Amino acid sequence: MAGRIPRQFIDDLLARADIVELVETRVPLKKAGKNYQACCPFHTEKSPSFTVSQDKQFYHCFGCGEHGNAISFLMEFDRLDFPDAIEELASHCGMEVPREENKASPQEQKKQQQAYQQKQDDYQLMEQISRFYQQQFKTATDKDAAISYLKNRGLSGEIVKSFAIGYISDAWDGMMKVFGKSYTGNQQLVDLGMAIQGDKNKPYDRFRGRIMFPIRDKRGRVVGFGGRVLGDGTPKYLNSPETRIYHKGNELYGLYEAKKANKQLSRLVVVEGYMDVVALAQHGVNYAVASLGTSTTEEQLQTLFRTVKEVICCYDGDRAGRDAAWRAMDNALPLIRDGYTMKFVFLPDGEDPDSLIREQGQTAFEEILDNAAPLSKFIFDHLLARVDMQSLEGRASLVDSFQPYLAKLPSGLLKDSIITELANNFGTATEKQLAKFRKNNADKPQKLIAKTKNKVTPVRLAIALLLEHPHIVNALPDSSVLQHVELPGIGLLNQLLQLCRQAPNIKSAQLLENFRDTTEGKQLAKLMCWQHHVDKDAAEDVFLDCIEKMLNSFVEQRTEILLQKAQMGQMSQQEKHELQALLNA
Ligand code: CTP
Ligand code: MN
Repeated sequence: MAGRIPRQFIDDLLARADIVELVETRVPLKKAGKNYQACCPFHTEKSPSFTVSQDKQFYHCFGCGEHGNAISFLMEFDRLDFPDAIEELASHCGMEVPREENKASPQEQKKQQQAYQQKQDDYQLMEQISRFYQQQFKTATDKDAAISYLKNRGLSGEIVKSFAIGYISDAWDGMMKVFGKSYTGNQQLVDLGMAIQGDKNKPYDRFRGRIMFPIRDKRGRVVGFGGRVLGDGTPKYLNSPETRIYHKGNELYGLYEAKKANKQLSRLVVVEGYMDVVALAQHGVNYAVASLGTSTTEEQLQTLFRTVKEVICCYDGDRAGRDAAWRAMDNALPLIRDGYTMKFVFLPDGEDPDSLIREQGQTAFEEILDNAAPLSKFIFDHLLARVDMQSLEGRASLVDSFQPYLAKLPSGLLKDSIITELANNFGTATEKQLAKFRKNNADKPQKLIAKTKNKVTPVRLAIALLLEHPHIVNALPDSSVLQHVELPGIGLLNQLLQLCRQAPNIKSAQLLENFRDTTEGKQLAKLMCWQHHVDKDAAEDVFLDCIEKMLNSFVEQRTEILLQKAQMGQMSQQEKHELQALLNA
């Protein structure tokens, strides 16, 4: 696989895909007139302003302004980059993505090719190392110690296999002996964090004498490892450093395995450790992930809420655990739209999910999850503990302390209920402050709609109509009629006329795709969302009318300029002819 995805393929893909069907797989839609509607998946709202148009193959939210075609939808909703969104859409349509010879300079081409190859190579190497670690349970001289360690921790061979857990004996070159065979190979192992370059010539194994947990990305590729010592050595856990394929803030340990084990995931439990994830799965709670760091990042939370609607964070009951939970909550606030929930479980002193489920079993553990504290309770408990509730000042400062958190929370039921609870319990001192929250809490779609309003000019209207009904280009005998006209936006219109003429069956979504990530693209998307109230049947006439107006106003402008020149006696022979022609027209 090399090079870019051919433009033609992207066009074909957009022609084949149906945006309504695609969106429907992720957001339930209701028919409303000739469009489809839903509450917007990109912001919180109570009445639907998210609209999907089958004709235009385009979606647009009148509330928050999100818009785009099928590719943009996948990029936004599934958080994919452009090539991944294309891969995803292609697989949805049963098409394979071809690659073309790169148009970049040969040098750049070579660099891109190398970077791509490098990554493919990296993933392959990591997978091979993971397999090698797994084989050690059969081949290592001290394999019995490793196997009995896992047995003692209550793990079956089946679970060990499903998480691809491995082992490496305590030696400087256990892995290097097998994989460190060339200078560039060694460098790659160092780059991937698997080996360390010391003072000696040859790098040595980073992971030694450890149970190895492979960390997989969303697509199941091994990107890093966590390794636990068998005994009491330090550090207890050793993790891969950040590398070109591993960014710990983006990954969640166990997510790939949880998705694989559950066709329909409804909730995910976030725990601290590798062992917790694996032990929970061992006891039937096969929907836990670990966040691979002290706090759960915004990227991780976004991934979680893209995967499920309910996230339960399970932390130690101590200070550190509560602080970690608070940071996770703070990062999650902007993501808690209606229909989504975040809950918290704090475990008794000295327990972790691993020890708890081993002592009490699946049912008891799931009961704890079912009774997890909702986010609002967590906020109240936390903030209440910080103020003196006996004094008026204390009570007033409580309401202030909610401000930054309420500000991050999108409008919706949760925000409403927190405000109501504040008002009910601390009402007297706080009415004024609450009024402020209420005001900030009101949805403001009106203002956003106003932003998408456009002044009507013939150029704008012609562009909007052409975007919506590309075939009306055929009403023009010649698509270069506007070639010499100079008006704002005319260049863009000419470009569109040409595109429409070249591809007789082109659809709006494909037209727009030609302008991804450009200023023109943004203007076009705006015009696409513009409700100009010209019906389909009248579109062609209105379009021709716009063209005529442009020609006329250009003639007027040009005539004016030439007449002025004539008055000042500054006219060339050619301009004289032009003026004559214009006056006779
Ligand atoms: N951790 C780490 N480095 C350490 C200690 C901990 O990266 N030196 C991370 C690991 O992801 C670990 C998690 O923090 O799984 C929780 O640590 P801890 O509670 O100390 O370990 P447990 O998960 O309970 O490990 P075990 O049960 O194996 O003792
Ligand atoms: Mn533990």
